[in-house]
Amino acid sequence: MKTVHIKSFGCQMNVYDGQRMADILSQQGYKETASPEGADLVLLNTCHIRDRAVQKVYTELGKLRELKIAQKANGQHTKIVVAGCVAQAEGAEIQRRQPAVDLVVGPQAYHRLPELLAQTGRVVDTDLPADDKFGYLPAPTRKAIAARGISAFVTVQEGCDKFCAFCVVPYTRGAEFSRPVAQIMAEIERLAAAGVQDVTLIGQNVNAYHGEGPDGTVWGLAQLMGRVAEVPGIGRIRYTTSHPRDMGDDLIAAHRDLPQLMPFLHLPVQAGSDRILAAMNRKHTAHEYRRLIDRVRLARPDIALSSDFIVGFPGESHADFENTIALVDEIGFASSYSFKYSPRPGTPAADLGEQVAPELMHERLLRLQERIEHHRQAFNHAMVGRTVDILLERAGRHAGQLAGKTPYLQAVQIETQAHRIGDTVRVVIERAGSNSLFGRLAELPAPANKELAA
Ligand code: 5AD
Ligand code: SF4
Repeated sequence: MKTVHIKSFGCQMNVYDGQRMADILSQQGYKETASPEGADLVLLNTCHIRDRAVQKVYTELGKLRELKIAQKANGQHTKIVVAGCVAQAEGAEIQRRQPAVDLVVGPQAYHRLPELLAQTGRVVDTDLPADDKFGYLPAPTRKAIAARGISAFVTVQEGCDKFCAFCVVPYTRGAEFSRPVAQIMAEIERLAAAGVQDVTLIGQNVNAYHGEGPDGTVWGLAQLMGRVAEVPGIGRIRYTTSHPRDMGDDLIAAHRDLPQLMPFLHLPVQAGSDRILAAMNRKHTAHEYRRLIDRVRLARPDIALSSDFIVGFPGESHADFENTIALVDEIGFASSYSFKYSPRPGTPAADLGEQVAPELMHERLLRLQERIEHHRQAFNHAMVGRTVDILLERAGRHAGQLAGKTPYLQAVQIETQAHRIGDTVRVVIERAGSNSLFGRLAELPAPANKELAA
């Protein structure tokens, strides 16, 4: 049997794509292995979002070249494949810089992997074709689903039409595309039948979802999630990543009306200054974002919010940055990601003057991260004493412990001998550590419905 090692970088869509590539390669007789050593095929599923992510790929390829040479000395021919967004954005450059690479395959060509691997010589396939790759990718086997656990990602939308001035996604993942409802439902029903209880619907701009419905009309994300909630066994639904402009009334209402939709929303704002938001081509102001959050909180008062931030976008002044800090302190995000601006070739912002000095960017990032961390800790500590339902997802840190997530996406460790992975248990949160919560089983068993306790 041939073996493949897949290493994914970057976002959750890459994790999902990595699994789908494993599924298609499994049909070709490849078994997945945890280590590149000894593998017949090593596949890097790459990220192009910031320069640092790209540099990681070339470093990794340097190591794989050594491995390939060493394995060749042992009579094994190792194939190196580069997939993902770096493959899409700089396929020719990869081939030039690292001759050990056998195949470069872009995110829209994964369904062609078997034929591409069968070709000899060095191959590049980075077309962005209109045909629907999802229709050609095989469904995972029951065994593969079970091995991946009870939480799953499902891509429902890909690409982006928003063209934020800093972002490569519209170029690497192409125009916005929504999978048809029936195709998504078939996939989720299959996952649920194999034991998945928790699904996260993913897309680069997932709340812009507008797929073909079974009735021939166009369905939005809220309507799609309503249907997903009807699948027996699916107790928890989440979605990511969203754009503030696409946060429609029906989606906000779903946070009030759909019990399976978890009270967590990742809604990147990027910056708190209107001048910078305009320069970023975000198409919303800080005020509009604040009012949107008010409306979401009205629909679901306990919702946990998270965001992405970029510091040091070209032209960002001290006053602009202070507006970002003010917004962070006002909203009180449960968690957030923050990045230094990284100029990306081909994006409009890369050509702007007024790039912010690296030391200044560094200083701002540290200050922002201190505020983000402060609010994260506050959110976690506010959980102490509360009773919540925890879906047990994996073994805990120590023997006799199981780990799961709160509805607010916080990791929890629980002492229990009486339960198994897949059980939902009612837990009293006793302590908040720096990265997880610790809880004990509540006296009463969890009720059949998955609503939160007070
Ligand atoms: N520089 C820094 N951060 C970026 N992001 C996207 N493009 C860039 C860039 N050029 C961040 C945004 C986005 C997240 C996925 O990555 O905050 O929401
Ligand atoms: Fe990276 Fe964005 Fe591509 Fe995901 S979509 S792999 S985050 S560049």
